[in-house]
Amino acid sequence: MKMKRVLSTLLATALLCSAALTGCSGGSSSSAPSSSDAGSSAPASSAAPSDGGDVKPEFVFRYAENQPQDYPTTQGAYKFAELVKEKTNGRIDVQVYHGAQLGDEKSVIEQLQFGGIDFTRVSLSPLAEFSKELNVLQLPYLYRDGAHMWKVLEGEIGDQFLTGVESSGMIGLSWYDAGARNFYNSQREVKSLDDMKGLKIRVQESEMMMDMAKALGAEPTPMAYGEVYSSLQTGVIDGAENNWPSYESTSHYEVAKYFCIDEHTRVPEMQLVSKMTMDKLTPEDQQIIRDCAKESALYERELWAAREKESEEKVKAGGAVITELTPEVKQSFQDAVAPLYEKFAADYMDIVNKIREVQ
Ligand code: GCU
Repeated sequence: MKMKRVLSTLLATALLCSAALTGCSGGSSSSAPSSSDAGSSAPASSAAPSDGGDVKPEFVFRYAENQPQDYPTTQGAYKFAELVKEKTNGRIDVQVYHGAQLGDEKSVIEQLQFGGIDFTRVSLSPLAEFSKELNVLQLPYLYRDGAHMWKVLEGEIGDQFLTGVESSGMIGLSWYDAGARNFYNSQREVKSLDDMKGLKIRVQESEMMMDMAKALGAEPTPMAYGEVYSSLQTGVIDGAENNWPSYESTSHYEVAKYFCIDEHTRVPEMQLVSKMTMDKLTPEDQQIIRDCAKESALYERELWAAREKESEEKVKAGGAVITELTPEVKQSFQDAVAPLYEKFAADYMDIVNKIREVQ
């Protein structure tokens, strides 16, 4: 009896040790990909073979992306993987999983915190639920335009927010572009605030986005990105809000054709690494990761600008009805969401003011 207990204790200890060893050895950081569809074997700009040919990677990391393969952010991820492979001579292999294969953004962020996923690119809205001060950067009508936002993100303020997520177990590496977001729905053209009344609008899983839709008279429903198309199709919701490339790539324009250019938010996106993953690397490799992330972000921004135009053309050709708000109506939208500043940024008004002053 006693012997049996000793044996089972020994066995359990052995199992624990081997698990710990796998975790600590220089081998792959995460469990092996369950799907063979990892992106590093993917498209146009997928990771290139290293110079040395068959160098066995010391680290195999997983990168989660919820957009499809040809989308600018996913192409940015492939570029990142390619650059990292090149600069480490194949020692670090980043495998990109696109199309939310590793889960929706919320669960990816949770996994990132504990090293289950190594890298990701997510929208700031779900991320701000984990690191509240990020709400500041996605306040409605905060930036004058895209150029203003980029001045902010590329300066001291942007850098501070990248490091700010560290207390949540993540490290911000770079900023990706996601343009401006607009409302669209299946019911009617939105020409005034009145037209927003009672529309059932899907919002991202973010308290601030719920409040924003409410402030505009809509009835918000938070849900994951991947569920929006079928919810529009079945009438569970009347509409949603997003940028041009998302409206187009998800085919939402086919089931919600009224698109209103209100540009209520610019929600930047962050490329992140798990702190647990980063801690496994030497300072030299950490620097390579940071540099490649920044370089991939520049690449994404270029692709973004082109894709925005292409998507706009495509949805127009596909029958979307585009409504531009008059400056007066846009102002009424802006006034309606102004109370959000009090609720979500009262403690950060100094930063909000600094952002506004950036020229
Ligand atoms: C954009 C963004 C996604 C996000 C989505 C959403 O498409 O790029 O990361 O999931 O908005 O509305 O949820």
